Amino acid sequence: TTASELIVCVARTDRIDEMAKKNISEFPFPQAPDAVKKYYRFIPYNYKTGYFNALGNFKKVAFKMARQFNKQLPVSAFNPADAKLWASKTTALACENLVLALRAHGFDSCMMEGFDEPLVSQILALGEQQYPVMVIAAGERATDGVFFPQYRFDRDLFIQKV
Ligand SMILES: Cc1cc2nc3c(=O)[nH]c(=O)nc-3n(C[C@H](O)[C@H](O)[C@H](O)COP(=O)(O)O)c2cc1C
Repeated sequence: TTASELIVCVARTDRIDEMAKKNISEFPFPQAPDAVKKYYRFIPYNYKTGYFNALGNFKKVAFKMARQFNKQLPVSAFNPADAKLWASKTTALACENLVLALRAHGFDSCMMEGFDEPLVSQILALGEQQYPVMVIAAGERATDGVFFPQYRFDRDLFIQKV
């Protein structure tokens, strides 16, 4: 309620082709290396699922067959939920970068995952393949802001040696 800016970070699975092409055309060399071109020509198929999930279903069968040969397979989206998860992972990492950058520039932020997603989508008129992942409140630190000391859980709760 007090932040000067609210930034909504949106995961989008409708820009896979567009961004793959951009990664080739804007690669910071006069020519993108062949390996880069190959990667970005292939990658859209990895995350797209196609109309009526046709591509997703095709990949599901192909991957099942390939598993029989004990092959290591790349991450892939077999349905729109997989694609949403992939885009959300990426967007969440971008959110972390954003709050760290804000701090580095002297601002404070509060990332919030607890919001009414359908309502936010409606306000921003988001399309079907556009998912709000995080709302980040940002601005100058208020002198009367609410701050608590940070605390840590035992590291053994999170780190497992195998
Ligand atoms: C993924 C994630 C989701 C969060 N969602 C909310 C939220 O919905 N509402 C909220 O008040 N704080 C939320 N927080 C907590 C704040 O962003 C912030 O991390 C917390 O107030 C601790 O701040 P500090 O790390 O600067 O001490 C979330 C934090 C994370 C990492």
